[in-house]
Amino acid sequence: MKRPDSLYIFIGVYILVQIPPLADGIRWLSLARMNSVAAIQVPEMCDSLLGLVKRQKKICRKNLEVMDSVKHGAHSAIDECQFQFRNRRWNCSTVNAKKVFGNVLKLGTREASFVHAISAAGVAHAVTRACSSGALSRCGCDRSVTGRSPKGFEWSGCSDNIAYGTAFSKEFVDARERRRNIKNSGRKLMNLHNNEAGRKAVEDNMMKQCKCHGVSGSCELKTCWRAMPTFRNIGQIIKEKFDGATEVKLDRNKLRPRLIPVNPQFKPHTNSDLVYLIASPDFCESDPKTGSLGTTGRVCNKTSKAIDGCDLMCCGRGYETRRRKIVDRCSCKFHWCCYVTCKKCEREIDEHTCK
Ligand SMILES: *[C@@H]1O[C@H](CO)[C@@H](O)[C@H](O)[C@H]1NC(C)=O
Ligand SMILES: *[C@@H]1O[C@H](CO)[C@@H](O)[C@H](O)[C@H]1NC(C)=O
Repeated sequence: MKRPDSLYIFIGVYILVQIPPLADGIRWLSLARMNSVAAIQVPEMCDSLLGLVKRQKKICRKNLEVMDSVKHGAHSAIDECQFQFRNRRWNCSTVNAKKVFGNVLKLGTREASFVHAISAAGVAHAVTRACSSGALSRCGCDRSVTGRSPKGFEWSGCSDNIAYGTAFSKEFVDARERRRNIKNSGRKLMNLHNNEAGRKAVEDNMMKQCKCHGVSGSCELKTCWRAMPTFRNIGQIIKEKFDGATEVKLDRNKLRPRLIPVNPQFKPHTNSDLVYLIASPDFCESDPKTGSLGTTGRVCNKTSKAIDGCDLMCCGRGYETRRRKIVDRCSCKFHWCCYVTCKKCEREIDEHTCK
């Protein structure tokens, strides 16, 4: 006869499988890996998308025309992460389409805080861009920025509609954390905080762009509008926030749980700072548990004392040096009119890679 508790084990395993861990709140990023020709055109497609929670699928069905911007935002977020981290031990490499960054984001580390912030910013930025370009029927330029400035120019033209883009990012990106029955864990609050900090990096760094009008650029009349920073700029800003991120813990002694700095001597974090719950692994060796790929084989800089230098990058294991030929264009000549010819020049460089 079957033992009755095998039934309970079965139910237990079933529940574990049914409730995906909250920590992996960024699976929707797998949208970035979708085939680029596969535009999301019919509501049924939303249900088959990898990595979306129920609520995100619902938002998708109701906002089909916005989904290509979401996909684009996910793509820029991954690209920008890889650019900002290209010289670090963890270089933001992706693992596969389903898990995107693999186990690295399971723990509430600084790296996870960066990925959340840049992803939320990516969606806000891409949706806002689409609004301004007239690609979406529900939003356009922000025409409320009007009137004469005390400095003597006229506010007019197409100001970026950052309100619509950030609101959409909040709805979509925060959806996994805002599901019902998800407790106020430290990780949930951390993810929500960093998502918001990413969006604030866009909002707080809006710029003024102007155009002169008048006879041969005399600037008799100057019109200006509000524009978003470039995404590269936003990447830099969030990277600085990564460097100055605050270690926090969950304060349970209140009716409303919140995150407080671990070290009470430090200045409390603001809405635009990044926060993390646990220190990162050193990423020196490959470790499936933490998702670290290790630094063996990574290119390092022999003369740098920073993290891209061979000492730190290779974690003291030493490095190998290879001579490598690289081909450049050189002795370029301009021919009238109008083309340029160049020669190919070879030169040799020493390339150092970690043991
Ligand atoms: C990132 O590092 C891994 C190994 O640690 C390497 O395989 C990969 O090529 C690197 N990616 C980039 C973009 O440098
Ligand atoms: C290596 O590091 C040095 C010192 O920081 C820097 O001047 C140099 O440009 C770096 N080389 C490369 C190839 O990045």
